[in-house]
Amino acid sequence: MRLEFSRYTERVGAVRLHEVMRVIELDSSGGGPELPTLAVRRVSEERLLEHMARMAVVIPIRDERLKVFEGLLSAIPHACALIVVSNSKRAPVDRFRLERDVLDQFCYYTQRRALIVHQQSPLLARILQEIGYAALLDAEGRVRDGKAEGMLIGMLLAHTIGKDFVGFVDADNYFPGSVYEYVRIFAAGFSLSPDPEYAMVRILWRYKPKLTYASGLRLDRWGRVSERTNRYLNRLLSLHTDFTTDIIRTANSGEHALSLRLAQLIPYASGYGIEPYQIVALLEHFGSSQASEGLKQLGDHLIDVLQIESRNPHLHENKGLPHIQSMTLQSLSTLYHSSLADEAFRMELREELIQEGLLGPDEEIPVPHILPPFGPYAEAFRNRVELLLEQAWLPARWTWPAS
Ligand code: GDP
Ligand code: CO
Repeated sequence: MRLEFSRYTERVGAVRLHEVMRVIELDSSGGGPELPTLAVRRVSEERLLEHMARMAVVIPIRDERLKVFEGLLSAIPHACALIVVSNSKRAPVDRFRLERDVLDQFCYYTQRRALIVHQQSPLLARILQEIGYAALLDAEGRVRDGKAEGMLIGMLLAHTIGKDFVGFVDADNYFPGSVYEYVRIFAAGFSLSPDPEYAMVRILWRYKPKLTYASGLRLDRWGRVSERTNRYLNRLLSLHTDFTTDIIRTANSGEHALSLRLAQLIPYASGYGIEPYQIVALLEHFGSSQASEGLKQLGDHLIDVLQIESRNPHLHENKGLPHIQSMTLQSLSTLYHSSLADEAFRMELREELIQEGLLGPDEEIPVPHILPPFGPYAEAFRNRVELLLEQAWLPARWTWPAS
């Protein structure tokens, strides 16, 4: 793979935010000797493979189409570990069982292993209770609903099986070719990071196709939610640094990857606020040169945030207006309630939401539920999860020679 390397970087405390990088060549194997250039980097297939072998791909899924799920499994490179965290319905049809079946068959034919757990598994809830990670549980002691909660379980499992990187892929991706590219981009991003143990790779889609009645296929550059979240996230960053910026273009990027060292240091916002809040959290905890708890844990490392633009378009399930509205609200609430926001920022954001009909004039912007970093719980989780893993490993009907 050949990529543009970012030429512009904003440094905010210990965080380096890199400008968007483009993919120039999806596959660069077979070329001659390389002429070194500064602006373009080639990542060999061996380097990609090296990083994919250290990566778990986590797929959060909730009642998606099985055909789409089945298609995207074919796109996850064989070297990656596969972890599916499902919050799908168990009745009247047990959708989780169907997902498990699809994954089982895939593992059987490809001779690979995968983990699948249900977010509402009582055993999982009990383990989380025992290790004291209460923020993931609701008042009844069950694991909370939400995509972020699923992703955290995925990260705990990735840590448990000894992976160094974790990449997220939504289960409603229609094009396996896009997913294949995303995972290779994750690996390329880590390969290019100066300190891959403390890096985050976020995908920017080249296009987001939509079918409209009026004009047929439209290839939009931005989703509606993303445009707004990016704008406000950049404003928040500007407030923090005093310089206007538009460096952030991947505020809502569901397709992203983190090194687990970094992943376990940061708090997460519940539900759909998780992606923008990752950046907010980095800025809040590591974004100033004042001594802080965050910087102490980071030691002398720096955090790199790479934004890489894919070549393939992103087509996912259209979940309708209410979904987009709740997503917008969940995303923006993490900015609104950030300690970096000031009164003027909050007022403008609130007014825009009211004007767009996303918030009632007397309504308050809900305070996001924040899930604390999983670092302090990771070892205890690993030590107690054996029974859960026994049930979660696939393929079920196949015993593998130990390796
Ligand atoms: P969007 O693509 O960001 O508009 O949001 P989606 O609704 O497509 O959600 C992204 C991914 O998270 C999809 O694969 C969903 O199936 C999955 N998802 C949504 N809610 C949950 C949840 O409560 N738990 C889990 N494990 N996954 C979820
Ligand atoms: Co989606």
